Amino acid sequence: MSRDLPDEAECIGMLYDAGCKRRVVVHCCTVKAVAEEIIRNIKGADGRLVLAGAMLHDIGRSVDNSIMHASIGSDIIRKLGLPAALSEIVRKHTGAGLDDDDVREFGLPPGDYIPRTLEEKIVAHADNLVSDDRVVGHMHSVEKLRAKGAVRGAERVERLHWELSGLYGMDLDVIQDIIGEHPRIAAS
Ligand SMILES: [Fe+2]
Repeated sequence: MSRDLPDEAECIGMLYDAGCKRRVVVHCCTVKAVAEEIIRNIKGADGRLVLAGAMLHDIGRSVDNSIMHASIGSDIIRKLGLPAALSEIVRKHTGAGLDDDDVREFGLPPGDYIPRTLEEKIVAHADNLVSDDRVVGHMHSVEKLRAKGAVRGAERVERLHWELSGLYGMDLDVIQDIIGEHPRIAAS
């Protein structure tokens, strides 16, 4: 039987218990603040799932900071007995997902790394709108990927940005102005 979705305080406890540094916890809380603003204007998303996904998306950074952290994090979530929908969000959160060529190139365990549900898309993109502890515009992530030569990945982030901006009713880059570059967060 899977456990219920954890609330924000439980997620912070899980991140620290897993061995995450404070910087990672602050990042996760900042991504959660962005995700919270996105779902304020997007109907049809499971809000509790999005918020838990945003809080736990980087739990794998307790083990590894490479691209592997998403797959490692999804295993941690599964081992904690949390819902499968949450481990899927974690595995698919890097950029706007990874296609099969990326998965092969990075030597990741085979699987689907493309965010497909609304909740998976919102968490992945909320993360694209945060750099460390700072809320940024989406071009920050697009340019970072382009600089690495990840042309397809950069295009996917742009597509996801405009897809979710359409559902939100405004260019999501406005979130930086709405909640501020450093929104108030729970991590202490
Ligand atoms: Fe991550």
